[in-house]
Amino acid sequence: MNDFKEKLAQYRDDVNTALEKAIPANGEEAVDAMRYSVFAGGKRIRAALVLAFCELFGGNKEKAIPFACAIEMIHTYSLIYDDLPCMDNDTLRRGKPTNHVVFGESTALMAGAGLYARAFETVAGSKALSDSQKLEGISVLLDASGINGIITGQMLDLKNRPGLSESEVMRIHKLKTSAMIEASALLGCIASDCGNAEKEKARKYAENIGLAFQIKDDILDVEGSVEELGKTVGKDKTEMKTTFVDILGVENSQKQVNSFSAAAKNEISEIRGSEFLCALSDYLAGRKS
Ligand code: IPE
Ligand code: IPE
Ligand code: MG
Ligand code: MG
Ligand code: MG
Repeated sequence: MNDFKEKLAQYRDDVNTALEKAIPANGEEAVDAMRYSVFAGGKRIRAALVLAFCELFGGNKEKAIPFACAIEMIHTYSLIYDDLPCMDNDTLRRGKPTNHVVFGESTALMAGAGLYARAFETVAGSKALSDSQKLEGISVLLDASGINGIITGQMLDLKNRPGLSESEVMRIHKLKTSAMIEASALLGCIASDCGNAEKEKARKYAENIGLAFQIKDDILDVEGSVEELGKTVGKDKTEMKTTFVDILGVENSQKQVNSFSAAAKNEISEIRGSEFLCALSDYLAGRKS
């Protein structure tokens, strides 16, 4: 467990150092707003996935770093937008007032769009990645953040009302959350230049932890504490969203989390060096933040 925590902390430090270089303060308000949310203290799970899959398949960390920065920038943009008054209308994120509360809605919109653009600039401008790695990575990022991922997932979630079926909720989870988590694993693969069989294992692992991750997020929205989560709880109920917890109850939802987490581990546990990713799957299933 200590090995796992140390490694996760190392990945987090690596990406934070690179993000500091990728988004330096320049006195512009939009950049201050971008930096405010990026450095507010995210867990960096997506960055850790990029770095860990690159390492698992024998890649060079320098190649994974621009992808790790890009995925965290896009993820942060998605959170700034998710919190806007016209979306989930949240005032607390990563233990701090949300971006629009501090900077106002117009600046928050520009900060989100700025992060989205900066993500692609960071990959395109990388000296470590080859052109074909850049192209493949950019395609993966566009896919997960566009109509095959966040956009359609968030649209469906906006219309999420009582009475959705388990498969409808699952579809929302896959689009709004798993897509970006799958992208993270695939980016690590691209950085390592591994083969298609490895990529498919990584994708399946990530799809499963992505589902476990969002079901756990919905459980924590009911059972978690504001202090540990750093975000408002009880939101899904006030916004009248159907979640796994409504359909299955907390206990059975946790069983689903455990079973997706086990399925994830199953995909990769035979690969030498997969201990960190197996431990990550367990950690996410039991997380409190
Ligand atoms: C929150 O993601 C949004 C969901 C997809 C549930 P994280 O829980 O990874 O958020 P940070 O990056 O640690 O703040
Ligand atoms: C958000 O899902 C997923 C995104 C694509 C940002 P939630 O709305 O449940 O995330 P939290 O609970 O606000 O972090
Ligand atoms: Mg939301
Ligand atoms: Mg939300
Ligand atoms: Mg939530």
